[in-house]
Amino acid sequence: PNLPPLIFHWIPVFGSALQYGTDPIQFFSKCREKHGNVFTFILFGRRMTVALGAKGNHFVTGGKLAEVSAEAAYTDLTTPVFGKDVVFDVPNHVLMEQKRFVKFGLSVENFRAYVGLIEKEVRDYLATDPSFSAYRSTKREEWGSFDVLKSLQELTIFTASRTLQGEEVRSSLNKSFAGLYNDLDGGFTPLNLLFPNLPLPSNRRRDQAQKAMSEFYIRILAERKSTNASHDMLSALATQSYKDGTPLTDQQIAHIMIALLMAGQHTSSATASWALLHLAHRPDVAQALFDEQTKYFSSPDGSLRPITYDELRELPLLDSIIRETLRLHPPIHSIMRKVVKNMTVPGSLTSPSRDINYVIPKGDFILSSPALSQIDPTIWKDSLTWDPYRWSDPEGVASQASKSYDDATGEKIDYGFGIISKGTESPYQPFGAGRHRCIGEQFAYLQLGVILVTMVRHLEMKLDGPFPSTNFHTLIPMPGSPRVISYKRRAP
Ligand code: HEM
Repeated sequence: PNLPPLIFHWIPVFGSALQYGTDPIQFFSKCREKHGNVFTFILFGRRMTVALGAKGNHFVTGGKLAEVSAEAAYTDLTTPVFGKDVVFDVPNHVLMEQKRFVKFGLSVENFRAYVGLIEKEVRDYLATDPSFSAYRSTKREEWGSFDVLKSLQELTIFTASRTLQGEEVRSSLNKSFAGLYNDLDGGFTPLNLLFPNLPLPSNRRRDQAQKAMSEFYIRILAERKSTNASHDMLSALATQSYKDGTPLTDQQIAHIMIALLMAGQHTSSATASWALLHLAHRPDVAQALFDEQTKYFSSPDGSLRPITYDELRELPLLDSIIRETLRLHPPIHSIMRKVVKNMTVPGSLTSPSRDINYVIPKGDFILSSPALSQIDPTIWKDSLTWDPYRWSDPEGVASQASKSYDDATGEKIDYGFGIISKGTESPYQPFGAGRHRCIGEQFAYLQLGVILVTMVRHLEMKLDGPFPSTNFHTLIPMPGSPRVISYKRRAP
């Protein structure tokens, strides 16, 4: 059969692991120049076939159940961390039911209750964290600084636990839970995706932490049986049952809670960090974001009144800032599936000049990278520039030089806002698409939105050093060091 072109590598088995691991975006761009949108590279003995572009996104996220499996691609990483019987440790139809249970807990009613809780967490953090002493200083022009990743990681776990995870998790964070979380997180690495059970101390700690954390949630469930339900996920899950009538077991609930904690933590904290770095780098945009707050929330005495969830959803600049940050820094740069039945790649996906129908054999992995289609210069004007205003400018999404017709099919491409939506063919997919699409998007926008505007309401920020580069060695790309933001208290 016609296999896709194989990327040259010197060391068998190891393959292109170094280039992919160091900078997947650069690696894929180089490979595309030479081979087009579809090619295979070796990653520790695995054959990874990359499908780039909006059509590549569709090929992977729109893959049929009979042909591709997400669980076979991810379970080695996720099951030791989340625990058994949930997410990728169950057949796809069970995952779909579990996603429905979680959606039930992500209700607008709950979200309305969360806004004030998140805002209060951020204000408390500014009022107590050592890095924000200059904010509390009585001197008016005092500048301080904070490590943006460290602070946002703390704020993300504080706010997620105060809301979704529940009161008990929030109050344990100062104690045992933080240590357990760190040990569990130590098992959430790129190495674990490839080699889940090396006899490492970190894996031993991961397994112990998984057990202890699972027991922690089960204990809370038992204690809660007598008390009233709260607006959190634990309460929501406790009411859910599968279609055949079986309720979720306490252990499954516990494992879903761990999965949600892990799914939201690095994705949101990285996004919030990048957004704040861009705002510090572009004080004009930060000022415009503050002005948006003044426009919508000024009260007669000149102060800003608290935000409500319904208003939060209608703030165009805040929305564009989050959207644009996710365009340049999507936390999940590679979406993977294992091929369970030979697949054919249509020639049009590769490029019009290479009209060959490649075959991807069963056992290979396929991979799409929205991170690349989200910076494709044929789609995005000044594609590498962080420009939140592009989202309110029809010219900003489709470049002036962009193609309006698809090379391969000759069909007209609609790059209007319609296509930048949820479809599997969209070039913009920070939350994925298709059956595995993220269900945490609304919660993430809520959490990010409240954190960002609360910071901007209270602080003026600037970047003294250069804009940080991206560190790809973590599972989710993070700003590299130094990532220090200077701030002072915003003048009243
Ligand atoms: C799936 C991104 C926050 C829960 C996904 C996928 C992406 C993604 C790209 C699809 C993965 C694939 O197709 O292989 C993000 C980003 C977030 C975020 C960028 C924040 C900025 C959250 C939060 C939660 C969450 C807060 C939970 C409350 C999930 C779940 C799935 C998922 C349950 C489904 C997995 C599946 O069906 O296979 N997310 N996520 N995510 N995410 Fe998120």
